Amino acid sequence: MPEVEFDRAKAKAFTQLMVRHLEGAAVSVMLEVGRRVGLFEAMAKIGAATSVEIAEKSGLSERYVREWLAAMVCGGIVEYASRERTYRLPREHAAGLTGASTRNLTSMVEMFPLMTRVIPDVAEAFRTGGGVPYSAFQPDFTGLMDRRSRPRYDELLFSAYLGKPEGLLPRLEAGIRVADVGCGTGHCITLMARRFPKSTFVGYDISDAGIASARAAASGLANASFVVQDVAKLEVSAPFDLITAFDAIHDQADPAGVLRQVRAALAPGGTFLMLDVCASSELADNVGLPMAAYLYTMSTMHCMSVSLAAGGPGLGTAWGHQLATRMLREAGFAEVQLFERVDPANSLYVARGDR
Ligand SMILES: C[S@@+](CC[C@H](N)C(=O)[O-])C[C@H]1O[C@@H](n2cnc3c(N)ncnc32)[C@H](O)[C@@H]1O
Repeated sequence: MPEVEFDRAKAKAFTQLMVRHLEGAAVSVMLEVGRRVGLFEAMAKIGAATSVEIAEKSGLSERYVREWLAAMVCGGIVEYASRERTYRLPREHAAGLTGASTRNLTSMVEMFPLMTRVIPDVAEAFRTGGGVPYSAFQPDFTGLMDRRSRPRYDELLFSAYLGKPEGLLPRLEAGIRVADVGCGTGHCITLMARRFPKSTFVGYDISDAGIASARAAASGLANASFVVQDVAKLEVSAPFDLITAFDAIHDQADPAGVLRQVRAALAPGGTFLMLDVCASSELADNVGLPMAAYLYTMSTMHCMSVSLAAGGPGLGTAWGHQLATRMLREAGFAEVQLFERVDPANSLYVARGDR
């Protein structure tokens, strides 16, 4: 075989790409530090200020603040006026780093320390083919997931998710039986139970901590209840008219089993609403999409590995539209409608047992 010539331009371009990745990783570390100590929230209020003023107003050590500011300036997050020696977090940047809305991207950054904590376990799993159990991510995972998804549900649950299937909102108003599988801290159930007092809601999750938080949050709601339950073994005495799964199928130990149990627990004419990551099952389709590398990283570090740890198939975060649709059909759903990218990261599947 003739040796392929070493392409110097390609090597140079790759070095530049690596530099950008390294810069991005470094900035992520500093973003997480800034989020933890409240520097973004503080700077959004202060306006242009010296490091001394920022440190004083945020109650932090000036030397640390100044070094952090330098990283933030070089990373393009904070603006620096060298003559005045002042730092400013522009309003447009503050919008992506502060507040309780989905625009605040720091909840994505918060994932990194949790994922890097399990690097030794994941590396070991590469050798053994095993996985990393959910317990390795606790006690932090449940709260982190809640912080990350709560603003999205506050903003989009009714308009972008429940509002998609025709006629569902009026049925919820009129009063139906609803279950949410893998409900986490039960925020979706709480929101729905408040809005639709004539409907009744049950949240199922395998996590004791998640269900305890859910019960506390919904304590005043007579139409909401929560059960610690492995949904792969879900058996119900009375079927549900609507079952929802928000970001809770792709990391299951037995996703096919869960989908079958969901199908069996649906009343005739019932609907299964599955919100899951927007991706193609084909890697080639995902290359170049924003955040595609993030998806596969989170998959390796968590979603795929927790499934493998429990003897599951390890579908992965980007199991994708094609596979998800096929699995829904194989579980007995006669009709599957796909609404792509109902929010920046997710697609919605509306599945019905009968046409
Ligand atoms: C990624 S979190 C999503 C939580 C919540 N739906 C949300 O969107 O914030 C997945 C949830 O599924 C739960 N889970 C995983 N396997 C489960 C199983 N077999 N039975 C019930 N819950 C399960 C986890 O405990 C976790 O709370």
